[in-house]
Amino acid sequence: MQQTLVLVKPDGVRKNLIGEVVSRFEGRGLKISALKLMKISEAQAKSHYAEHEGKPFFSELVEFITSGPVAAMVVSGENAIKAVRGMMGATNPLDAVPGSIRGDYALSIGENIVHGSDGEDSAAREINNFFKAEKIF
Ligand code: RTP
Ligand code: MG
Repeated sequence: MQQTLVLVKPDGVRKNLIGEVVSRFEGRGLKISALKLMKISEAQAKSHYAEHEGKPFFSELVEFITSGPVAAMVVSGENAIKAVRGMMGATNPLDAVPGSIRGDYALSIGENIVHGSDGEDSAAREINNFFKAEKIF
C-alpha cells in the first residue's frame, strides 16, 4: 500500500479535466483518500518544487503552479506511486504516449496537466505539505 500526492495543475483545472483525471485513477483501482480545490501560495509552491530551485525554469514553474486553483489529492493503492507516474506519461507531453494523461491532453512541458510524487520520500514530504492538517481516509 502506497500513498502519492497528485495535483491537477492550473491548466488541467482550466480545461475541466479534474473529473477525467480522477476517473482514470478510480477506474484503475486506485483510491482517492483526500481531495481539495485550492490556490497554492508562493511559499508552498517553492517548498513543493524545492528540488528544482536554481534551475532556469524554476520561476516559471512557481508562477504557473500559483496561476490558478489546483485540485490536490492523495491517491492510494498498491504501488500507487509508480502506477500514477505511468498513467501521467512523460514529463514532456511530446514524449508521452497516447493513452497517458499528458499524451492525451497536453502539448507543452510547462503546462502538462498533472503532478505526481516521484518516490516514497517525496510522496511523504508532499502529502505533509498539502494535507498536514487534514484527515486522509
Ligand atoms: P511533476 O513534478 O510536475 O510531476 O513533473 P515530473 O516529475 O514529470 O517532472 P520534474 O522533473 O519534477 O519537473 C517538474 C515540472 O517542471 C517543469 N519542467 N520544465 N522547461 C523545462 O526544461 C522543464 N523541465 C521540467 C514541468 O512542468 C515539470 O512537470
Ligand atoms: Mg517531479
